[in-house]
Amino acid sequence: SFDLNMGISTATSCSHLSPPLGTVKHQISKLVKISLAKCFPGDACIEPLVAICTNKFGDYQCNNAMGIWSKIKGKSTEFKNPNSVGQAIVRNLPQSEIIGSTSVAGPGFVNILLSDEWVAKSILNMLCNGIGTWAPVFDVKTAVVDFSSPNIAKEMHVGNLRSTIIGDSIAKMLEYSNVKVLRRNHVGDWGTQFGMLIRYLFEEIPDWEDANKNAIGDLQEFYKSSKRKFDADEAFKKRAQEAVVKLQKGEEQYRAAWEKICEISRNDFSQVYKRLKVEIIEKGESFYNPYIEGVLKKLDDLGLIKESEGARVIFIEGQTIPLIVVKSDGGFNYASTDLSALWYRINEEKAEWIIYVTDVGQSQHFDMFFSAARLAGWLPNNSIPKTNHVGFGLVLGDDGKRFRTRSSEVVRLVDLLDEAVSRCKQELTQRLENNGKISEWTDAEIAETAEAVGYGAVKYADLKNNRLTNYTFSYDQMLNDKGNTAVYLLYAHARICSIIRKSGKDMEELKKVGSIVLSHADERVLGLHLMHFAEIVEEACTNLLPNVLCEYLYNLSETFTKFYTSCQVVGSPEESSRLLLCEAAAVVMRKCFYLLGITPVFKI
Ligand code: ARG
Repeated sequence: SFDLNMGISTATSCSHLSPPLGTVKHQISKLVKISLAKCFPGDACIEPLVAICTNKFGDYQCNNAMGIWSKIKGKSTEFKNPNSVGQAIVRNLPQSEIIGSTSVAGPGFVNILLSDEWVAKSILNMLCNGIGTWAPVFDVKTAVVDFSSPNIAKEMHVGNLRSTIIGDSIAKMLEYSNVKVLRRNHVGDWGTQFGMLIRYLFEEIPDWEDANKNAIGDLQEFYKSSKRKFDADEAFKKRAQEAVVKLQKGEEQYRAAWEKICEISRNDFSQVYKRLKVEIIEKGESFYNPYIEGVLKKLDDLGLIKESEGARVIFIEGQTIPLIVVKSDGGFNYASTDLSALWYRINEEKAEWIIYVTDVGQSQHFDMFFSAARLAGWLPNNSIPKTNHVGFGLVLGDDGKRFRTRSSEVVRLVDLLDEAVSRCKQELTQRLENNGKISEWTDAEIAETAEAVGYGAVKYADLKNNRLTNYTFSYDQMLNDKGNTAVYLLYAHARICSIIRKSGKDMEELKKVGSIVLSHADERVLGLHLMHFAEIVEEACTNLLPNVLCEYLYNLSETFTKFYTSCQVVGSPEESSRLLLCEAAAVVMRKCFYLLGITPVFKI
């Protein structure tokens, strides 16, 4: 009963539209590049400088004129000021459906307004062909994201949780950008501490393998006790050191105990990954052990390894201490493993971007071994392969100190996550009872929603901050349904879905035959915000800052609210176009949720 042919013909039917290639900025840059080549044929290749516009005269702007003017000033007869350079850039822009209009500001900035029809068409095209058509383009084919990476025989702590949440989001954003991502769990499963722990278990806890459900908690206790014994008892220390040698030589009994310890820890870690729906492949420190000797030989052949106080080290310019690669007792360490892992990732796995997600406390370690790799010629300057350390700050409790439970123990992550879900469930049930809707919900729906909201809240509270800052963990704050929280955003999304549901329209059909017209100013603002999605993902990936995507998502929900307040959707003459805009907003919101590791909800 609604008008299927409403709107302009260019924006209907998307089957023959080619998907946009990369970001809007990228597409405009291509046009500017052509123009610059025409304006300055002698100048081999001037890089286009295009950015999102910050004033009301444009959606995008080209900032090349000033720079070009300063180079040609006094030498050119054709141009008399930067403004005339800007004018020339405009004149030579190729014909394109992207551009609605242009203007040149005083000092030569070129303001570009996008064509409303093109924005509408691009959004419809995204709805028909999927949001993959908006993916940004990177010059990297394969990336390693080294994240989570807890230590075996210790419980996962909030630091590992931050790494898991941030790393997963970065991996997802890169995957969306068509980068092949190797998700790596670089677990701490190797080193002298295992000799100590195994000896202790053999000697003191004959039935350690039978330890039941809380095995990981026990392991951590055993680990602490073994350390105490190691420090206090010379003879034990000696036996522990012998145990390391036996383990590293692969002696059956020791190997089996080590396997068992890893398995107990792994089972515990996997509970967290399962709750958070995080995929990750374990390639722990032990995996790289067989490569260490060969890698150190390569570094030695390059003359990089020196003798220092009995240890073998690499001196790094600008660092007060050298990077130790062989300890004075002849053993390998964290750095020798990381150098080998880097070598393996570059040469065997062909990774072009290797990203490490740990607390900022480890930045010196990363700086140093990256520098060593640069000295070895593995990491060229300003080119690929490249590495980044993605550091993050602490999680604090209400007291402003490191987050702990009341008994001042390290917080068990599963407990922390379960608590968020159970609080959500309580609140949801209460709300549904209050508004008389509880009969419309099955128990399973309530449980699923509580999980999505609870885990989503924990993740979003972490991701929304610039990762370098410390943040305070507070259930009350993260579960608030107002303000910049996952709860608010998930509900905002569900509300859009319910607008669409209540219209009773078949959206699949509407996508095929309908059209989008941006007639109201707030429709245009929303449309443009949607078009910025790819640029935001690109920026978040380039700077490895998931909070950029959170900010975008929050602004999107605000922009949508503004649109919905000023534009009637259901029952208006513009209904079908506006429903398509609602759908597009919901699709983009869902993609944001997905990239942040959050499961959307559709009903509230
Ligand atoms: N296991 C380490 C820790 O808990 C993190 C490992 C990070 N990855 C790496 N390649 N160093 O601190």
